[in-house]
Amino acid sequence: MFRVNGKDKENSMTLNDLKHPKLVQWVNEFAALTTPDNIVVADGSKEQYDELIDLQVKEGLCVRLNPEKKPNCVLFDSDPSDVARVEKRTFIASEKQEDAGPTNNWIDPKELKATLTDLYRGCMKGRTLYVIPFSMGPVGSPMSKIGVELTDSAYVVCNMMIMTRVGVKVLDVLGTDGYFVPCLHSVGKPLAEGETDGGKWPCAPMEHKYISQFPETREIWSYGSGYGGNALLGKKCFALRIASVLARDEGWLAEHMLILKVTNPEGRSKYVTGAFPSACGKTNLAMLIPTIPGWEVHTIGDDIAWMKPGKDGRLYAINPEAGFFGVAPGTSSKSNHNALMAASKNTIFTNVALTEDKDVWWEGIGYDAPGKLIDWNGNEWVQDKGNKEQKPAAHPNSRFTAPASQCPCIAPEWEDPAGVPISAILFGGRRPSTIPLVHMSRNWNHGVFLGSIVGSEVTAATLDVKAGTIRRDPFAMLPFCGYNMGDYFQHWIDVGKAAPSQDVLPKIFYVNWFRKDAEGHFIWPGYGDNSRVLKWIFECCDGTAKTVDTPIGIMPTIDAIDRPEGVSDADMAELLKVDVAGWLREVEDIRTNHYPKFGKHLPKELADMLDTLEASLKAYKG
Ligand code: OXD
Ligand code: MN
Repeated sequence: MFRVNGKDKENSMTLNDLKHPKLVQWVNEFAALTTPDNIVVADGSKEQYDELIDLQVKEGLCVRLNPEKKPNCVLFDSDPSDVARVEKRTFIASEKQEDAGPTNNWIDPKELKATLTDLYRGCMKGRTLYVIPFSMGPVGSPMSKIGVELTDSAYVVCNMMIMTRVGVKVLDVLGTDGYFVPCLHSVGKPLAEGETDGGKWPCAPMEHKYISQFPETREIWSYGSGYGGNALLGKKCFALRIASVLARDEGWLAEHMLILKVTNPEGRSKYVTGAFPSACGKTNLAMLIPTIPGWEVHTIGDDIAWMKPGKDGRLYAINPEAGFFGVAPGTSSKSNHNALMAASKNTIFTNVALTEDKDVWWEGIGYDAPGKLIDWNGNEWVQDKGNKEQKPAAHPNSRFTAPASQCPCIAPEWEDPAGVPISAILFGGRRPSTIPLVHMSRNWNHGVFLGSIVGSEVTAATLDVKAGTIRRDPFAMLPFCGYNMGDYFQHWIDVGKAAPSQDVLPKIFYVNWFRKDAEGHFIWPGYGDNSRVLKWIFECCDGTAKTVDTPIGIMPTIDAIDRPEGVSDADMAELLKVDVAGWLREVEDIRTNHYPKFGKHLPKELADMLDTLEASLKAYKG
């Protein structure tokens, strides 16, 4: 029915090579609906990646960067309307609205499928339908899961080839009847006879964008956006929204967390996961270069962790991804040298600025813009430091897609199919006041409580929420939980209950690198100096840390954390103070605005924990 693999290349994989009848049938059905000109199977080969990049260079959709500066790298500029995840157009289409819960957008799945079927009809006219078999997690690991994405975007194929494991090896694991999560995607821009994209990023208008998850049938249907988390369906849609549902049903955790390995001067290592809302420096923390002598940090993952109880009851984590989709602005050799190195070759850049010698530049890269740039909108741009109103050359959410294997500090065991045993879990956000530098929960359920109340100051880059306000983002999962968030809290409590003892569970910490003084300056230097906090956390896990019990949890004594240069006694006292008045305001806000949203889905354990916190704050004498 179709010209399969339009180029008729020998050795390239066609639909006829697929050995999985259900997969073939599903592809054929979607192709009949969307009417592409060709069907191409992504085999995961370097040749195919290079060919697809060449195709897009020829079509003017991206430019190849200077091979002497950035070998095998390209730069795409997106449509100005298609620059970020679109939370308002993201849906959890469960059978019952209650199962999507108060924090998700919901549409009845039948209605949503009807709307999307209409939009998909003929939407790939003039385009190629790519079949991307991908594994989230090392291919063949018992903790990994397979998905197949059907898309009409070569940009998506190339990004998926970096961000996930793609191709023949995945099909081998899938066999003739293996399970896969079906993921549909279209940019939503059919081409008329003879029409091309003309070098313009294809996408649909905002009101036609739908990022849809169907939790009961474990399907993803995405339409209208070509960008990041909306289109690379292995990432947020599968590895978080659908995987959180699988994890609930199968007794594990799918989390918006980095995974790092911290090693002390004696060479002993512990593994730590950390959940932080978007734009709170997860990638920087995952790749930090410690400022304390003898300590080392290595990276396992920077965005997503899947954690499962092992035979010994401990939680073992894998990074389901194979690359980093990192925010470029603010990444410099000072803030994150390792990320810059990871993105120094074989990388796709999106929406950063282009220099005259075909290198990339962005705000916060650590040096002035060299000469005349082309900004992310394709306009000439010359830096004018005196002009506070000057629009940035790189979009604030511009990205690099880089293979994790290229990161100089990647841990050798980052692809261990068994995962790594987790000793500590961190929660954090941007909190200019109230929340101390670090405190530890008393036990698992208290840690769940801390995760449930995470809040973060909204930055200018977040759409639709007033900058400067605190947005509650429980477990940093607000836009990513595939079911009722109250039930998700309960699931965390249940995972703790299922453990053979509290001792095997990771210890849980709440950290805050973002405290500000009265003048609005950060009190804690952050970045590499966060290793000093990791050291205290390491010691807590060993039971050797200097600690003090307080109403909010277990805190470091004033001398417990090695102090960086420039942090005075008074600063440290401020960073580690229990701000009773601030915490009472916090309690009030949680009681009035946050917890009531979850109604009967809020676990009683958490409501009780809030009462206990309030009572002990009121009784606290300092
Ligand atoms: C991301 C995000 O892109 O959290 O990782 O938005
Ligand atoms: Mn993220």
